[in-house]
Amino acid sequence: MPRDLLVDVELRRGRLRRTLQEVLRCAIQDGRLGSGTTLPSSRTLAGDLGVSRGVVTDVYDQLQAEGYVELRARRAPVVIAVARATASASDPPAPIWRYDFVATTPDVDLFPRRAWIRFLERSLRTAPPAVFDYGDHRGRIELRRAIRDYLARVRGVRTEPERIVITQGFTQALDLLCRVLIDRGAKTIAFETPSLPDAWATARMSGLNVVGCPVDRNGLDVDQLRSLNPDAVVTTPAHQFPTGAVMTPDRRRHLIAWAESAGHVIVEDDYDAEFRYDRLGVGAVQGLDPDHVIHVGTASKTLAPAIRLAWMSLPGHLIDDIRKAKGTADSGSPALDQLVLADLVASGEYDRHIGLARRTYRQRRDRLVTSLAEALPEVRVFGADAGLHVVLDLPDDFDDVALANEAARHGIAIRALSPMTLGGIRRQGLLLGYGKLAVERVRDAVFALAAILKPRLR
Ligand SMILES: Cc1ncc(COP(=O)(O)O)c(C=O)c1O
Repeated sequence: MPRDLLVDVELRRGRLRRTLQEVLRCAIQDGRLGSGTTLPSSRTLAGDLGVSRGVVTDVYDQLQAEGYVELRARRAPVVIAVARATASASDPPAPIWRYDFVATTPDVDLFPRRAWIRFLERSLRTAPPAVFDYGDHRGRIELRRAIRDYLARVRGVRTEPERIVITQGFTQALDLLCRVLIDRGAKTIAFETPSLPDAWATARMSGLNVVGCPVDRNGLDVDQLRSLNPDAVVTTPAHQFPTGAVMTPDRRRHLIAWAESAGHVIVEDDYDAEFRYDRLGVGAVQGLDPDHVIHVGTASKTLAPAIRLAWMSLPGHLIDDIRKAKGTADSGSPALDQLVLADLVASGEYDRHIGLARRTYRQRRDRLVTSLAEALPEVRVFGADAGLHVVLDLPDDFDDVALANEAARHGIAIRALSPMTLGGIRRQGLLLGYGKLAVERVRDAVFALAAILKPRLR
């Protein structure tokens, strides 16, 4: 037995039995005691360590029970082969950007920490024990009630607490729905093109075939949707991601008519409808037909993505299946966070926070648009009315991915538009998010980007 292992044991005499066991187990796992190595007899090792023989036999018995050593009558124990863990790649350090134009994250510095602490403390003090138990897989009733009231008031959504399922973000809502659709025999789901590739990946994981349906300045092209005729479609009517188009009233009616005539479902991803700057936001499409539209809202833009809370309002025929799918996936979302969010919404803090965030983002949006007009007057900007980003339209023969890579080398994080194409024409462009750019840095960020972009536009 190597001397250093014995020293290790000596040093940690206090918890001798456990220490000896840990030291031997570790040495076997990391190969210092290789397969076939003979360990000292219990008498010898006890003598070396100056402990009772019973301590060592207990440890050897335990290691045998765990499968690390073989004990043989009147012979010394032998180490059994164990698989070596493959070395895992260490996490690369998070890049530090000079300017971060990420388009999918809000300003998490604005997170209402004080209110969250206040409501968390209150829940911890007053919540009955049942809150800490497994509960209804749809989520806490307090949150479902608060969300029902909020959605009716702010988004014109028609729902009831019984129809709401709380999920871990829009991502899980989509995942659950795709699983349920597959179980019901669905084959295909359509997404807008362009749209978020992460969402296509979620749908593909369930086994659904993913197809792209074009959008134009009026939103999703419903005639094209009719000819694709998928089992479901995911759409962002209030503010198309990423182009920023708002679906026109005509298109909204046609979309509903498609779902009704074909008996299919529409998934309304209402991810950032609260952030509309120049006029009142349009209500959710779900309000037109709650039996064919699944409305999904999320706290990822209004509060922070790490909260991982979203809410889906379901047609009656999907409630039981989605509830079961949620139970199978994770037995329900964290209850305390749901109670805190319920208090935040019901107390009006949520609205106050959104009001403050909206004012902050509007300033940044204004500064971004004027800076772009100054630095890059030749480039068209669209999608500036709402949300947390604008899109720079680039010529068809441009390589937006190469530009984004070049920008990254200059410490500027920016996302290219063309990889968001799901079939059809690949539009070239850049997404400029302002969730992470303080207003006083916006102009510098735009000029830094223009310095890279301008020479390539000629
Ligand atoms: C179009 C779109 N939908 C939904 C979300 C939110 O997803 P989640 O609620 O899973 O964080 C995002 C986040 O970036 C998004 O860009």
